[in-house]
Amino acid sequence: MPKTENKMSNRHALKRILGDTKPIMGWLIISAFISLVSVCLALIAPEIVGQVSNEIFVFRAQNVPLDMASIVQSCLVLVAVYGASALCSLGTMLMMNNVVSRHFTCTLRIRISDKIRRIPIKYVDKTPNGEIISRMTDDVSVMGNTVHNFLDIVIQGFVKLVGISIIIFYMQPIMAAAVIIFVPLSLVLSAKISQKSMKHFMGAREVNGKIYALAEEDFTGFDTIKAFNLEERQQREYGALVDKSSEKLKRGYYLSGIVQPIVALTNNAAYIAICIIGGWFAIEGWVNVGEVVAFILYAKLFAGPLESIANGLSMMQNTFASANRVYELLDQEEMKEVPNKDVSSLDGNITFEHVNFSYDPAQPLITDLNIEVKSGQKVAIVGPTGGGKTTIVNLLMRFYDVDSGRILVDGMDIMDMSRADLRSVFSMVLQDTWLFSGTIYDNIAYGMENATREQVEEAARQAHIDYFINTLPDGYNTVINEESTNISSGQKQLLTIARAYLSNRKVLILDEATSNVDTRTEILIQNTMDDLMRDRTSFVIAHRLSTIIDADIILVVDKGRIVEQGSHKELLKKKGFYAEIYNSQYELLH
Ligand SMILES: Nc1ncnc2c1ncn2[C@@H]1O[C@H](COP(=O)(O)OP(=O)(O)OP(=O)(O)O)[C@@H](O)[C@H]1O
Ligand SMILES: [Mg+2]
Repeated sequence: MPKTENKMSNRHALKRILGDTKPIMGWLIISAFISLVSVCLALIAPEIVGQVSNEIFVFRAQNVPLDMASIVQSCLVLVAVYGASALCSLGTMLMMNNVVSRHFTCTLRIRISDKIRRIPIKYVDKTPNGEIISRMTDDVSVMGNTVHNFLDIVIQGFVKLVGISIIIFYMQPIMAAAVIIFVPLSLVLSAKISQKSMKHFMGAREVNGKIYALAEEDFTGFDTIKAFNLEERQQREYGALVDKSSEKLKRGYYLSGIVQPIVALTNNAAYIAICIIGGWFAIEGWVNVGEVVAFILYAKLFAGPLESIANGLSMMQNTFASANRVYELLDQEEMKEVPNKDVSSLDGNITFEHVNFSYDPAQPLITDLNIEVKSGQKVAIVGPTGGGKTTIVNLLMRFYDVDSGRILVDGMDIMDMSRADLRSVFSMVLQDTWLFSGTIYDNIAYGMENATREQVEEAARQAHIDYFINTLPDGYNTVINEESTNISSGQKQLLTIARAYLSNRKVLILDEATSNVDTRTEILIQNTMDDLMRDRTSFVIAHRLSTIIDADIILVVDKGRIVEQGSHKELLKKKGFYAEIYNSQYELLH
């Protein structure tokens, strides 16, 4: 997992978590109150047990008549007290389960998923999906657990510890000191060990993020992995990661397993001290037997809070790490959204003014790009692979925002247009064909709001995909699956051409629109493509030079720069880069 930048302090993280618990604060307070009642009841009980034991002891030792009624009454009170305490514990646990899982973790997860929709693609590009998934699942769970256990740590831990200390001090200070002297030792030891174990758990979670990423790669790249016999390699990598994760978990569990025996050991030492000192004091008559019994019970109660405080302290470290990752994502700057405007009257004049852009700041790509396109002109963009052709389209569509400079549509900076408005100006067939899981009909109709059946079918006819659709058993109702693997790449392109045909917008973008279509079909749809480009500003990226010869402007792009610009004839005369590409293809064709 990459280190999060600008790590916030633990105090800040705690403040943020507390801020996020505001909506459930009412429930937390009720729950804290019930938990407090449960603790108070649990604290009273040993005192009553002590009284009953003392009465029995006095009856046996001093032959005082036994007050059976009082003993039965005390026993009934004891049952009621323990019963009520258990019920209160159960009540808070159920309440917290419901409130925390329903409201806290759920809300946090929804916020993350909303956020992902609003952050720039650049962030999502550089953060592996597995990493985002692990923040949404594991890290949020850790934070939820902490909120859940927080009351337990504070009330069942600190309140109980302090409560018991006060009661036993009040009963017998020297015996109380014998119990309490072991507390710091037990706390320090167990907190240190828990911290170490938590480090291993956190390490395991980091590895789990990588496992998620690999599993995702396995599923999405299933065909490629099969085709290239990469199963064994993937399996090896997977095995290594799982081993690493389980090794870290093993160490974590081993260390956390030591905490309980340590608490038990120091607790037992306190017992022994109580038994020795208590016995001696009882013989001397400084305390009665009932008080010794109550003391032993109180000493026993010490173990629970000690353990929960030790665990709580180490859990906090883990929680801060998770909170850092979750809030780092939630704090990402969002894409600016501006109010919708009326864009229906735009003509489609496009200007790029001194545009600079890079996907990675360390590698400048588009540098000082200037393009001037008049409405209705056809612009062809050519150049070597990786030259930056698709990047120009990405910037125009605001899939990515420019680093500096401006892109204008009819004089309006596209940064001042909402993405929805901007995209309503473009029809597009992109290099990465985009279909959603749904029927073929819906995928075509997506191009136009309220499209009629006739319009959808006409668009399919124009794109010469209607024949194929009609041969399918479900025709237009055939469902395209999530990965669009049930239709070929060429068919996907034809579907998106049909969609673009239907959408009929002011500007057309074709990025290798027919690169996967066979030559015969390409010739068949040439008329449709010509129709699409007629009278509208078009940006065409094509690998076949024959489709770009009649463009008004040809931009030759290499390494993010326009190295040549002009009409086909002008560029050929120049005998430069374009002429070289053209002639090499021309030779291949003839
Ligand atoms: N999402 C991205 N994140 C980081 N770098 C990218 C991204 N997309 C493209 N690039 C890089 O930017 C450069 C230009 O890519 P671009 O897709 O614009 O090339 P292209 O001219 O369209 O190539 P092709 O002819 O292969 O489609 C390449 O070096 C590529 O590696
Ligand atoms: Mg491209």
